[in-house]
Amino acid sequence: MNRRKFLATAGTMAAAVSLPRWLQAGPALGPEEIEARVRKLVSQMTLDEKIMVMAGIPTAFTKVDSRAPFHTDNTPGCARLGMPGIRFVDGSRGIRFTGATCFPAAMARGATWDPELEQRVGNVIGYEGRAGGANFFGGVCINLLRHPSWGRSQETFGEDPYHLGRMGSSVVRGVQNHMMACAKHFAGNSIDKSRHYVDVQMDERTLREIYLPHFKACVDAGTASIMNAYNSLNGEPCAQNTHLLREILKGEWKFPGFVLSDFGSIKETVASANAGCDVEMDRRIYYDWKLRLAVEGGLVPMKNIDEAVARQFREQLRFIHLEGGPGYDVKKLGSAAHAAIALESAQKAIVLLKNEKQALPLDRDQINTLAVIGELADQVNLGATGSTEFIPAYVVTPLAGIRRAAGKIEILHRDGLNLEAAKKAAAKADAAVVIVGLTAQDENEGSDRLRLTLSDSHEALIQAVADANPRCIVVVQAGGAVIMARWKNHVPAIVMAWYSGMEGGNALADVLFGDINPSGKLPIVFPKSAGQLVPFDNQSPVVSYGYYHGYRRFDKKNLEPAFPFGFGLSYASFKYDKLRLSEDKIGPDDRVTATVEVTNLGDRPGEEVVQLYVGYNGSQIGRPVKDLKAFTRVALKPGETRTVSLELKADNLAFYNTARKAFEVEPIEYVVSVGPSSQKESLLSDSFTIV
Ligand code: BGC
Repeated sequence: MNRRKFLATAGTMAAAVSLPRWLQAGPALGPEEIEARVRKLVSQMTLDEKIMVMAGIPTAFTKVDSRAPFHTDNTPGCARLGMPGIRFVDGSRGIRFTGATCFPAAMARGATWDPELEQRVGNVIGYEGRAGGANFFGGVCINLLRHPSWGRSQETFGEDPYHLGRMGSSVVRGVQNHMMACAKHFAGNSIDKSRHYVDVQMDERTLREIYLPHFKACVDAGTASIMNAYNSLNGEPCAQNTHLLREILKGEWKFPGFVLSDFGSIKETVASANAGCDVEMDRRIYYDWKLRLAVEGGLVPMKNIDEAVARQFREQLRFIHLEGGPGYDVKKLGSAAHAAIALESAQKAIVLLKNEKQALPLDRDQINTLAVIGELADQVNLGATGSTEFIPAYVVTPLAGIRRAAGKIEILHRDGLNLEAAKKAAAKADAAVVIVGLTAQDENEGSDRLRLTLSDSHEALIQAVADANPRCIVVVQAGGAVIMARWKNHVPAIVMAWYSGMEGGNALADVLFGDINPSGKLPIVFPKSAGQLVPFDNQSPVVSYGYYHGYRRFDKKNLEPAFPFGFGLSYASFKYDKLRLSEDKIGPDDRVTATVEVTNLGDRPGEEVVQLYVGYNGSQIGRPVKDLKAFTRVALKPGETRTVSLELKADNLAFYNTARKAFEVEPIEYVVSVGPSSQKESLLSDSFTIV
């Protein structure tokens, strides 16, 4: 079959699939039934039919509603046997349908440190996706942020593998209440400009301990699919990387789902099919007649083809009872109930970085006039364009949110393009809020952000407003770390608002006026200068990733950040006391519970993210000063004390022994530090030994 004929057939097959009775909404199929069905389906298929299943067709998905999917791709399934294909919809801050709920960007959601909330976010994404006609969400990006210059920083949850794993697996669980989820990009994808050709090199220990654990967490959470990265890893493109796909993912981790190629990432038919890349997206370039010839010529064993088809069908059958299932209503896209979760997420994502001279919160009884300055105050700024962009139900800008919440306060809005006008307004007001930051022009898919400060004009605006009004509150929108060295000390308050989704303006106003107590914590370290970070090179064909980055590097080199990993202030203040460990000696299969008393010393209710780090005393190998190993959110009324428990399993303290090719727990002393951030002065410590 030639290429043209192949494509023509694929197109008709996609259009022709309608579900047979046995696949229509009913109870979920059990694992044995799924395996039996998969075996039967595969055994009935011709080679051509199997190859059809293994590649996508761009935008072949029939729209279910006039609100229209923004972007969908599917695989054709097998019409003859009544088996539908996947209907892929992208996203990250929401499902990529017009009118859907737009959540804060993933990095902002990372700052909530709230996996339970993230699961609810995922649940809405999955619901809206299914209601809009998709059965596959391609938007769970969990690449570890090695450097804030990565253009897609905002799409991931942070820099720490444990935190990333908790957040990523939560959104997977939520989405998969309704449809398949896909965690991406496997692995080591954190540079965008050179993503199609760069070879990311790292040693095996770095790969296992730093760049893979969060993928394992998503596999353990049952993700249906994993998308490979564009880049190569240690010399082999990820779409044909046998070590990553066959040995680790499908071998050691026993991942039963399927691997989907990032769009256009396959470079070679035989190598990818044999390495275990099961589906070529988003169009058929390599998995077509070339694959047929390769099978016929004995270059790709038939069992690999059968396996690829079986993996895809297995996951589809897991979710098939939801096809056309009752209860999905496209009118609920962007509904009030869904928007409430977007609001909660945006509220909990906001990180109060600095608050001196009681600049915040703004008291409605004391403020008569408030200046709100900056072009971003009145702009829709949801983050990147590219594969995450869609038009949401609505967007509340910062200015709209502030006006809603301001009551009788007079709002003076200036766009800040004219510094004199901005200064004048600020001088007249009781306080000035300056909204500055980045947009998709500064950080986006396909490019990187080489400048880590704000633009000169935004820095000049901050300075001008701060000169005119000492109660100058700076609100920063961005998808990653911003270097604030030139202006940080000139203003009393800094609020990190990220890209905060369609309810972001309301969430910001709630925090500014104290209707909500800020509780977000940084999921990445904010450096004082770029020189404190690992190098970032988005030109070279080869880059080398070492073991240390982010807070681990700051710790190791004893560098002082501008704001530490895990840091965030509250209008309350929390006291940590009486750290206790349940054991002082355990075996390598045991666990320890740490308890700590946290008290709200403030006069308003607040939430605190309690963090637990572990250090390694007497380790025989180089290990971080400390690693994040547990965290939890706790809500406290004024004056309330709660005993917070955090559990540690010995095997979560293992390192990867390259010689033995296995994780191993060292029989040493483990120092447990608990507190409000990674900053060592803020932590209480105790230790136990593993024998
Ligand atoms: C991105 C993926 C995305 C795909 C489809 C690619 O360019 O890297 O993250 O899922 O496009 O939108």
